[in-house]
Amino acid sequence: MKTFYIETFGCQMNAHDSEKVVGTLVSEGYLQVEAPEQADLILYNTCSIRDKAEQKVFHRLQQFKKEQGKGKVFGVLGCVAQQEGEAIFERAPHVSLVAGSASYAKLPSMLVQLEAGDRRVTGLKFDAEEAFETPFTRRDNPHRAYITIIEGCDKACSYCVVPFTRGPERSRTSASVLKEAGELASMGYTEIQLLGQNVNSYRDPSPAAWNFARLLRAVGEVNGIRRVRFTTSHPRDFVEDIVKAIDENPVLCNHVHLPVQSGSNRVLEGMQRLYTREDYLRRIAWMKAARRPISITTDIIVGFPGETEAEFEDTLALLEEVQYDSLFSFKYSKRPNTAALGLVDHIAEEEKSRRLTILQEYQRAIQIRRNTDLIGTIEETFIEGYNQATGQWVGRTTQNRILNFIHAEHTGPKDGETLAGRYVNVRVTRAGPNSLAGEAV
Ligand code: 5AD
Ligand code: SF4
Repeated sequence: MKTFYIETFGCQMNAHDSEKVVGTLVSEGYLQVEAPEQADLILYNTCSIRDKAEQKVFHRLQQFKKEQGKGKVFGVLGCVAQQEGEAIFERAPHVSLVAGSASYAKLPSMLVQLEAGDRRVTGLKFDAEEAFETPFTRRDNPHRAYITIIEGCDKACSYCVVPFTRGPERSRTSASVLKEAGELASMGYTEIQLLGQNVNSYRDPSPAAWNFARLLRAVGEVNGIRRVRFTTSHPRDFVEDIVKAIDENPVLCNHVHLPVQSGSNRVLEGMQRLYTREDYLRRIAWMKAARRPISITTDIIVGFPGETEAEFEDTLALLEEVQYDSLFSFKYSKRPNTAALGLVDHIAEEEKSRRLTILQEYQRAIQIRRNTDLIGTIEETFIEGYNQATGQWVGRTTQNRILNFIHAEHTGPKDGETLAGRYVNVRVTRAGPNSLAGEAV
């Protein structure tokens, strides 16, 4: 039997793509193994969002090279594959397959080429028929499942490589999304995460022409589904109706990830984000006016070209105003093909690092305050597993907070029996910056 090993970097879209790739390979008669040494085929699903992620790819490919000469075949998938294309064959000559995410439907025929001894197989076109549905997706988690609803991105944020690596927007029909959600529910999945680079610009290509809020409501009505999440949202396309939908149905998790990137209008303009700070805060106001407490998280880039100290402070002031529950923060990184490459006044690395540290410490204090406010409340928690080291169960609240807890009747998994996948109510007794702790009630 032919064996393969796959390693994945990057966002949830990439994680889900790998699930599709694994499913396809298994259906083609391949066996997945846990270590590269055991594999005939070594696949690497890559991310190129920032320079560091991309450098890691070539570093890791060098490590894999040690396995060369043992008759192994190497493949690079995902965003670096799409971005670098055939140049990868030059930089890493032991690689035989370079394929971007839009080409995974063609994987079986690419495998045939590889098996025939072809040493330069590529899948780099965006015109491939939709790869949303593979009948074979191998989901990593038995309780929570991803569903891609829209691929690609039509925005042109000046720092971002995604429009180049994932191509233009393509939405999937609402009927096929609902069919997959129904099938997942009947298989025992209770949580669904709707995925897309910009889910808010979802537009049903069938005559129904549903928008995102309509689709979200419908997925929330699927029998057996207890939680629905979605990511990622672009503020420009985030409409109030989404907040209304969340308010109407507790199945829709009360968490919205709404990347702002900067609190300065001048920087937002340079980023070509298509909204102002004021536009953004209006969306925050809709969420704060909701009946359910909606948790809000964001992404921030520090050190965008030309960002002054005062503009950076505008971002800190925005954090204070919004009171995010969590955020991902990054130092601006130059990406190939992007418009921001042409900007002057690039900020020194040390200065970017300084701003990043300040931002993270600032946010940490906010999170400690916000999490501490939850002590004494009871939170419905979806159990993900058990942490042997701490002796606690680990779960998530609807607001996507991590909650570590003890359970009087279940002091740990016994005889292979685990609570993972169940929902329990937990009283919050302690709070840290990044998680809560409590006791099942
Ligand atoms: N440099 C730094 N951060 C970036 N992101 C996207 N492109 C870049 C870049 N060139 C961040 C944004 C985005 C998140 C997924 O990654 O904050 O929301
Ligand atoms: Fe990385 Fe963006 Fe590609 Fe996701 S879509 S893997 S974040 S480059």
